[in-house]
Amino acid sequence: MKFLLDGGKPSVAVVGFGYVGSTVAAVLTDCGLSVTGIDTDERLIQEMQTDYCRFNEPGLAEMLRDARRDGRLELTTRYEATRQADVIIITVGTPVDANRSLVTRYLESVCDSLAPLLRQGQLIILKSTVAPGATNGLVRELLERGGLRQGRDFGLAFCPERLAEGAAISQFRALPIVVGGCDDESADAARRFWTGALGVDVDVFARPEVAELIKLADNSWIDANIALGNELAALCGALGVDVLDVISGANSLPKGDSHVNILLPSVGVGGSCLTKDPWILWNLAQEHGVRMRLVETARQVNDTMPAYTHGLIRAGLADLGKDPATAKVAVLGLAYKNNTNDLRHTPVRPVVEALRADGAQISIYDPLIAANEAEAEFGVKPSPSLEDAVRDCDCVAVLAGHEAFEGLDFTDLARRVSMPCLIVDGRAYYSKETIRSLQETGFTYRGIGR
Ligand SMILES: NC(=O)c1ccc[n+]([C@@H]2O[C@H](COP(=O)([O-])OP(=O)(O)OC[C@H]3O[C@@H](n4cnc5c(N)ncnc54)[C@H](O)[C@@H]3O)[C@@H](O)[C@H]2O)c1
Repeated sequence: MKFLLDGGKPSVAVVGFGYVGSTVAAVLTDCGLSVTGIDTDERLIQEMQTDYCRFNEPGLAEMLRDARRDGRLELTTRYEATRQADVIIITVGTPVDANRSLVTRYLESVCDSLAPLLRQGQLIILKSTVAPGATNGLVRELLERGGLRQGRDFGLAFCPERLAEGAAISQFRALPIVVGGCDDESADAARRFWTGALGVDVDVFARPEVAELIKLADNSWIDANIALGNELAALCGALGVDVLDVISGANSLPKGDSHVNILLPSVGVGGSCLTKDPWILWNLAQEHGVRMRLVETARQVNDTMPAYTHGLIRAGLADLGKDPATAKVAVLGLAYKNNTNDLRHTPVRPVVEALRADGAQISIYDPLIAANEAEAEFGVKPSPSLEDAVRDCDCVAVLAGHEAFEGLDFTDLARRVSMPCLIVDGRAYYSKETIRSLQETGFTYRGIGR
């Protein structure tokens, strides 16, 4: 098959211009390619057209703005724009529902819209996370309804997105790209595309199912390693040992080609990937009569962490002679991950809900999150400033360790709160020196396993 991308610099359409789509587009335009971003969310497209980027990813807003001004990035809600593209990258959301089953309706809608518009020689690259079998099954079948045949008229490959929020731009430029083609020609075309565009290593696998599984295996590994960190934290908390000492010591052991790598415990695991990808793997295993106990246990362990953190706050308040039912708690940092504004499945929410159920008075503050979004997620109006949030509080719970909270002035804080006051460190990982100094100021400190 002759692919359009071989005719020179390929033009690209990115369908689904959310967090992943906009990041992919930003890097590709920065590498000199022309990209059209397509999304059905008119507000998102309008925002982007006026240089507002709702995603708090370092460098992303500037790259998108520059690309638009230089004419390398067009944005639209109209699918017809995909006709001009040599390569179409699909990056729509694929959440799971309340039963932990994958929701494919956005992906199906994309395929239905693309099918009648496909042209001979186009390469379709799916990046949305899917259950193994979806690329060569559901996606291929829907695309072929337009009359063209995969492998004869157009190419199709799955290339999982593996970037981590907060470091997405640099990671996308450097991480090896995994390719699973529906046929050898599609796989090779995808390899040529990524090598030509990014110059990164490309690992080609024989079937898309392998690439689909790689994505789920990566995230299940991360989730399981965090779960181990969380269980060690619970034990260290009971023993009065600092879990960070244990983890850094344990991680110095060389193992295989690398080191032991136990990940850090925290208030919990959130975001759109780690909360769902292990379940996609688990569901698939169930369908094939395999019970992946480690995967389900890790999910369950990580889901207990907000309750564990709530327990820390209650116990810490009680030790200070304060009643959780009447205490005032200031929650600093609402996002699921440090230095992001991403509220998806944030573990901070169940902590706040549990505290409110106790009767505690809650103030919330996150400098990275728009007030209306915070209020919609938490049902509490956020305080306009840190100073307002902590006024007269009995506990300051730092539950996202944003940079803004790294250098908290505890002497100043002591004048604003109601001393004695509890500091709960949900993922700020304050140094021993900081902990000593805040204790000297009169605060009590509790961390996850510290
Ligand atoms: N966020 C991450 O860190 C990350 C990392 C790796 C992989 N992924 C995977 O990448 C995919 C996208 O994730 P995301 O975080 O960018 O999601 P997102 O919700 O930020 O973006 C998805 C976008 O798709 C758009 N969309 C929905 N239906 C559409 C349609 N029919 N046509 C065009 N656009 C449509 C939405 O309006 C939205 O803007 C998911 O499958 C996710 O699991 C995400």
